[in-house]
Amino acid sequence: MEDGDATPEQRAREEAVTDAVLRSLRTTPDPRLRVVLESLTRHLHAFLRDTRLTEEEWRAGIEFLTATGQMCDARRQEFVLLSDVLGVSMQTVTINNPACAAATEATVLGPFFVEGAPEIPLGGDIAQGAPGEPCWVHGCVRDTDGSPVPGARLEVWECDENGLYDVQYDGERTAARGRLVADAQGAFRFWALTPVPYPIPHDGPVGALLAATARSPMRAPHLHFLVQAPGRRTLITHIFVAGEALRTAGDAVFGVRESLVREFLRQAPGTPTPDSRELGDRAWTRVRFDIVLAPDGA
Ligand code: BEZ
Ligand code: FE
Repeated sequence: MEDGDATPEQRAREEAVTDAVLRSLRTTPDPRLRVVLESLTRHLHAFLRDTRLTEEEWRAGIEFLTATGQMCDARRQEFVLLSDVLGVSMQTVTINNPACAAATEATVLGPFFVEGAPEIPLGGDIAQGAPGEPCWVHGCVRDTDGSPVPGARLEVWECDENGLYDVQYDGERTAARGRLVADAQGAFRFWALTPVPYPIPHDGPVGALLAATARSPMRAPHLHFLVQAPGRRTLITHIFVAGEALRTAGDAVFGVRESLVREFLRQAPGTPTPDSRELGDRAWTRVRFDIVLAPDGA
């Protein structure tokens, strides 16, 4: 049965329930909270009526959400993961970061950002022992009018060649993340690891949801950036590695934007490095990422 098949009497009974909830919200003192709760009520009730949700399905939904909450602890945020795979995170990013001239586009933060990453000097190595192929990353932070942003603060983080972030290992090791300050011309440079595709955590309820919908848990290979400067909109973004893995891995959290895809240029073993770092017989890659910050409030 579909919503449209309900008799006029049945539709009126259902509308009366929605109206009763909406009336109960009229006393909400905070006007914004009232707007959000009224809209949530309308959409949730419309969903129930549209799908003609059965009581058994309602129970399964409650059990799923309960299991999602029970999976959460200080290191694991299953609700954020749920928001990610439903595209809710990416839609929230899109709503709150409107396009602004040539400003670099934003994408999801993800669950692996950690406050207090080590300070890395310009030209330093964020790997700090994490395994992977070395990657030279450089670029410049500018305003939308093209002027450099001296002293912009950058936080960068990524997984290692095993597809794991430091926080996914036992112990307190910090690796493959760091904080840098751009120079007086807005330029930055550092060593990182060539990003690899990896699965989001999928051993919990969100993984079960992906399996039930025949979806892959893989994320396209990427390097995370969080860039801040006074008077500019904070930018949370990634760069994605152009190529085969981007096409085949897909992206379980809908985070890829064309404008964020970059060529990571492969360098054969023995190719001189930009800072004369000795890499012996190891291959490495290099990528340029120029960042444009929107003005605050744009
Ligand atoms: C990440 O890129 O780190 C990430 C984003 C969303 C869900 C899981 C991981
Ligand atoms: Fe990531």
